[in-house]
Amino acid sequence: MNMRTLFSIAMLFISVILNAQKFAGLAKTPPMGWNSWNKFACNVDEKMIREMADAMVSSGMKDAGYEYIVIDDCWQVSRDENGNIVPDPIRFSSGMKALADYIHAKGLKFGLYSCAGSKTCEGRPGGRGHEYQDARAYASWGIDYLKYDFCNTDAQKAEGAYKTMRDALYEAKRPIVFSICEWGSTEPWTWAKNVGHLWRTTSDIMNCWDCKVNWGGMGWTLILDKNEPLGKYAGPGGWNDPDILQAGNGVLTDVESRSHFTLWSLMAAPLISGNDLRSMTAAVKEILTNKEIIALNQDTLGKQGYRWWTLDGKIELWIKPLSNNDVALCFFNRSEEVKNIDFDWNRYFSNLNGKTYHVTDKMNVRDLWLKKIIGTTGNNLKAAIQPHDVLTVRLSK
Ligand code: GLA
Repeated sequence: MNMRTLFSIAMLFISVILNAQKFAGLAKTPPMGWNSWNKFACNVDEKMIREMADAMVSSGMKDAGYEYIVIDDCWQVSRDENGNIVPDPIRFSSGMKALADYIHAKGLKFGLYSCAGSKTCEGRPGGRGHEYQDARAYASWGIDYLKYDFCNTDAQKAEGAYKTMRDALYEAKRPIVFSICEWGSTEPWTWAKNVGHLWRTTSDIMNCWDCKVNWGGMGWTLILDKNEPLGKYAGPGGWNDPDILQAGNGVLTDVESRSHFTLWSLMAAPLISGNDLRSMTAAVKEILTNKEIIALNQDTLGKQGYRWWTLDGKIELWIKPLSNNDVALCFFNRSEEVKNIDFDWNRYFSNLNGKTYHVTDKMNVRDLWLKKIIGTTGNNLKAAIQPHDVLTVRLSK
C-alpha cells in the first residue's frame, strides 16, 4: 500500500469519526423555550411567531431562562423542482431567514420541526432522502434547534434515521440542538446519547391530569410515571423529554399547572412551554417564571429527580440531588383530599439513596413556591397539602 492510499484511508476514517457525532457543548442543561404545537397545532404563521418572541421577552420568560422559539409541524408546504423544502409562502411570506433574524435580534434562538419519514405527522413533506439538503437550508436560515418526528417512516429504523440527520446537521456546520421525537418506541434513551440532545420518552402529552386517548396520547401524570424510571439515562447534553408543557392551556387548574411544572423541573425535563405567551394569566406567568424552581431544573449536576417513595398511599416524595450538596424535595399530593404531613428529617433523611445527610447540621428548608425559609431539618416539616398540589423545598446549609 503506497503513502497516497494510506493517506486516503486515514482521511476517510477521520471524516467518518468527525461526522459520527452530534454537536457537543449544547444543552448542557435541559433546553428551555416555547413550542407552537400544544396550543396552535397547524395554525402557525410568522405574525404569531413574532408576537410570541415579543411576549417571551416582555413577559419575563426570557429573563427566567427560556431561549428557543420552535415552530412545530405545518410551516412547510412542498419541495421545489430542486427538492428544496418550501415554507408556506402565505403564512411565512417573509421567509424563514427573516424570521430567524427577528428572533435572534431579541436575543432568542429559533427552532423548526421536521420528520424522518417521507411526510410529517400532518402530511407535510418529510426529511427522508433530503436530510443533507434540509440541514444546509436550516443552517443557511439560522436555525438553532430541530425537532425531528417519526411519522410515515415505513420500514425505516429509528436509530439509523436519526443518525443520518445528525450527520447532516453536523456537516452543515451550524450548531443545532437535535430533538429526537419517536415517542420512546425504540427506547431512544439506550442509543440516543450520541445522536441527539433530547429524546421523547412517551406518546403525546394531552391537556389534562390523567386522561388517555386511543392513539396513545395521555395526561401529564401518566407521562410522569413513564418518564420517572429513566433517570439514569439523563445528564448534561442528553435529556429524557416527557414532552411540551401543558401548563396554562386552560384545562389544568393553576394548582395542577404548578405541580406539572414543578415535576418537569425536578425530572430535568426540557422546559418547553406550550401556551399562548401573549395572553398568560398572572398566575401562569408566575408559575412558568419561578426562578427557584427553574434553578432545580437547570442545576449543573444534571441529575434527573426520582420518586423516592409514596407516603400514605397518595403522597409521593420526589428527590433531586443538586450541586453543592443541596437537595430538592417535592411532596406531591395525587389524591382528591387534603393531606397532612409530619415529616421527621432524622427518621427519613439521614441516609438518602446511599448518601448520608447530616441532619444534625441543620440544613435550611426553603419553600420554593412561598419563596421563604420555613424551618430547618432540626424540626419536623408539618404542612397541609391541597389535592393535586405540591410542597417543594430546597435544603441547603
Ligand atoms: C407528533 C409529535 C407531536 C407533534 C405532532 C405534529 O404527534 O409527537 O409532538 O410534533 O406530531 O404533527
